[in-house]
Amino acid sequence: MLDQKTIDVIKSTVPVLAEYGEKITTVFYQQMFKAHPELLNIFNHANQKQGRQQQALAATVYAAASYIDNLEAIIPAVKQIAHKHRSLGIKPEHYPIVGTHLLGAIKDVLGPAATDEIIKAWGRAYNIIADVFISIEAEMYDEAKNQLGGWEGFKPFVVVDKVKESDVITSFYLKPEDGSLPAQFKPGQYISIKIEAEGERFTHIRQYSLSNAPGKDYYRISVKRESGNDKPEGIVSNYLHDAVNKGDAVSISAPAGEFILDMEKDNPLVLISGGVGITPLASMLNAIVDLQPERPVTFIHAAGNSKVHALRDEIERASARGNTKSIVFYDQPLNEDQEQNLFDFKGYISREWLEDYIKLDDAEFYFCGPVPFMKSINASLRELGVPEERIHFEFFGPKGNLE
Ligand SMILES: Cc1cc2nc3c(=O)[nH]c(=O)nc-3n(C[C@H](O)[C@H](O)[C@H](O)COP(=O)(O)OP(=O)(O)OC[C@H]3O[C@@H](n4cnc5c(N)ncnc54)[C@H](O)[C@@H]3O)c2cc1C
Ligand code: HEM
Repeated sequence: MLDQKTIDVIKSTVPVLAEYGEKITTVFYQQMFKAHPELLNIFNHANQKQGRQQQALAATVYAAASYIDNLEAIIPAVKQIAHKHRSLGIKPEHYPIVGTHLLGAIKDVLGPAATDEIIKAWGRAYNIIADVFISIEAEMYDEAKNQLGGWEGFKPFVVVDKVKESDVITSFYLKPEDGSLPAQFKPGQYISIKIEAEGERFTHIRQYSLSNAPGKDYYRISVKRESGNDKPEGIVSNYLHDAVNKGDAVSISAPAGEFILDMEKDNPLVLISGGVGITPLASMLNAIVDLQPERPVTFIHAAGNSKVHALRDEIERASARGNTKSIVFYDQPLNEDQEQNLFDFKGYISREWLEDYIKLDDAEFYFCGPVPFMKSINASLRELGVPEERIHFEFFGPKGNLE
């Protein structure tokens, strides 16, 4: 345990470090990748370039440090991150590397203001926080490996089918190459996929939500091609679309994540998705109509138009089996969409619409989509008085702030 003096030093310096947050984290990543280029096989380069990840790691260390005398309070937040770490293959031996470079960056950026006393205190605090992550992740590694059909790290799966779902989204059906049954998962969970593309110096790992119902002998992921337009093309999604075909193998880690449907409850469900954010919610809907067919579900999907609307027929079929109402929003409908009645509402899902069409009293809300979409849904639900414990969402990138 830390002595009171060390705790005081840490708590009094958290605001200073947070103030220099971006500078420290930029130096931290630069120096860490220079000393350990092999870590570029694990970190997402696009998130680095766009600064999306820069803040997350160090900011979490500072936040955790402010609870250094009450670490129980941060366990739920640690678990969510630990799921991602486990899914990526982060190991105990990685923690000292991060610790060394984080302390080095604090020293470099703060200069003489970072006294030996401060650096020593932060070194001790980091080790304590790292131990919390390491022990939670150890449990998750055990669980992933020891469950029925489970495995350690990345395992080869064969693409048994590849199905175009829309102009931009394609599904991959995956079975273990060794002929075993894959570990079960909870609807809403994701897997990580690791690729070694020709011409690429590093491996690349990305997460994809499982879009099928659990209980099958295969996994399905549904991937949107990130064209990039004026930016570089998305590496993994384009590789999967262009270079991975039926019969090919890909490496994936066991299902992870805490965005999961609570099937102990039976209150009404409202599943809201934007674009490719439909994937975890499609899994949830398929699971509900299989296992809780009486449970009322409103499945709301927003897409540009029919060309980019994935899994349409599947959702309709599932809805017909359960106690489900499916509602489609298009913000750029085509003439034929109008003629063929392919959508219910034009435009975006608004607060007013939710108030008019959805019974908010005891419903459980799950949503996923682009960040602006999620911000808008979250703000609407809050304004309409839906309590936090009935609001659940997933980010398709580093976890951000919806407020
Ligand atoms: C829990 C979770 C579940 C997910 N589930 C799904 C799913 O079911 N289906 C799905 O399709 N996706 C899903 N994702 C997203 C997925 O993991 C990938 O992020 C996505 O496929 C893009 O990866 P990529 O390698 O193709 O693009 P990346 O190479 O990672 O690029 C991402 C974006 O950054 C842009 N970019 C790249 N370099 C730069 C640069 N230098 N400057 C500016 N911009 C740049 C690219 O144009 C692209 O738009 C999920 C993510 C998470 C975290
Ligand atoms: C106590 C130390 C650590 C903290 C507080 C921490 C915190 C975080 C946070 C907050 C995220 C974002 C989670 C999300 O996506 O929602 C993250 C992701 C990640 N972390 Fe850690 N982390 C720590 C240690 C490590 C270590 C030791 C490594 C490996 C060297 C590592 C590698 C990663 C990677 C690769 C990601 C995914 C980010 C991406 O690729 O964009 N982390 N971590």
